[in-house]
Amino acid sequence: MKLVTIVGARPQFIKAAAVSRVLRERHTEILVHTGQHYDPDMSDIFFEEMHIPRPDYNLGAGSGSHARQTAAMLTGIEEVLEKEKPAALLCYGDTNSTLAGALAASKLCIPVIHVEAGLRSFDMRMPEEQNRALTDRLSSLLFCPTDTAVENLRKEGIIRGVYQVGDVMCDAVRYYAQLIDAHERAYYFSRARKLFPAPDPEAWYLATIHRAENTQNAETIRRILDAFEELDLPVIFPVHPRTRCLVESVYAERGYRNIVFLHPVGYLDMLFYLKYAKKAITDSGGLQKEAYLLHTPCITVRGSTEWTETLTGAHNLLCRPEKEELLEKVLHTAPDPAAYRNHYGDGRAAEKISELIEKEELH
Ligand code: UD1
Ligand code: UDP
Repeated sequence: MKLVTIVGARPQFIKAAAVSRVLRERHTEILVHTGQHYDPDMSDIFFEEMHIPRPDYNLGAGSGSHARQTAAMLTGIEEVLEKEKPAALLCYGDTNSTLAGALAASKLCIPVIHVEAGLRSFDMRMPEEQNRALTDRLSSLLFCPTDTAVENLRKEGIIRGVYQVGDVMCDAVRYYAQLIDAHERAYYFSRARKLFPAPDPEAWYLATIHRAENTQNAETIRRILDAFEELDLPVIFPVHPRTRCLVESVYAERGYRNIVFLHPVGYLDMLFYLKYAKKAITDSGGLQKEAYLLHTPCITVRGSTEWTETLTGAHNLLCRPEKEELLEKVLHTAPDPAAYRNHYGDGRAAEKISELIEKEELH
């Protein structure tokens, strides 16, 4: 089958790294990069390091308001679809690139395949929740990572074309984490040694913060960084470009010494820092789940999560962006190992997706 796949933001490159390789054994894939993320350390590094096929089109949509950015993607994707005439469009996750792909295809009556369908945080103020719910509504084939996601769709009356295949990020974690284990551990520890002394396992925390609700004003970031400064171990913090200006302005006032600020890092570095971190502190969707998969306890600086399974047994704790609450949860909580379950599949989600696309009749 001829498919057009849409990617645009960092987590989608990682998902495509797991899926494209497998998909191309049975199908013809045209890869479209919307250009939502464009800095080399937010885009090129993943294509190079993870051997993702080169995009056939880059639409150069870039940054802007939601409407401006989504509109630029819609126009560009429509042109590609009219030219390529694929049998279906495949999109991942919940970004503006996802929704633009789903909307452009469904208006041309091209079936939409949604990978990572059915996730809900039940917070409709989040742009991601709007993107997910609308994309699911427009999709003919819906590949859910978990039983919870299937159930969420059922409650919305979406039953046809729904499959629980496991999580494609679990495929990526298993494949790439094993590379670090097999050959490269000493290499990554020696790189970590350049950041700060004594980089033994569990000698640091790993943090990422980029959600709209945490990056709207300097006060919220200040409270989060003030908490990091008082932790018992250094905090490695690769800073998303959305957060960079705020961090720089707060840093200019405070001058933090316990935080190792980095530019965004590649996926292998990230898995290394995460796997050997004492805890992760994040508002990222993907990182919460990777932390769970790698048995690193996580504190999620959000009021809700779509990855609800991770909350069982305190493997992941939700936390407000308040200094005292953050310190309490990072320093004085521990997960219950007995409550750990494998919710996210066996690392074969991409194979199942590829087979089901071949088998299903799409309308
Ligand atoms: C987007 C997704 C979010 C996802 C995140 C992954 C939406 C609505 N949000 O958020 O779900 O978690 O990607 O990282 O799609 N910027 C750069 N260089 C880049 C990219 C962005 O400087 O390469 C800056 C720009 O100032 C831009 C801002 O970051 O305005 C936000 O980028 P954008 O893609 O709009 O949203 P994200 O916060 O990255
Ligand atoms: N990630 C990375 N480098 C970084 C920060 C994150 O490789 O500097 C990876 C992370 O391991 C996860 C994905 O990017 O696989 C998550 O992306 P992000 O947090 O940007 O988006 P979200 O998952 O919140 O949509």
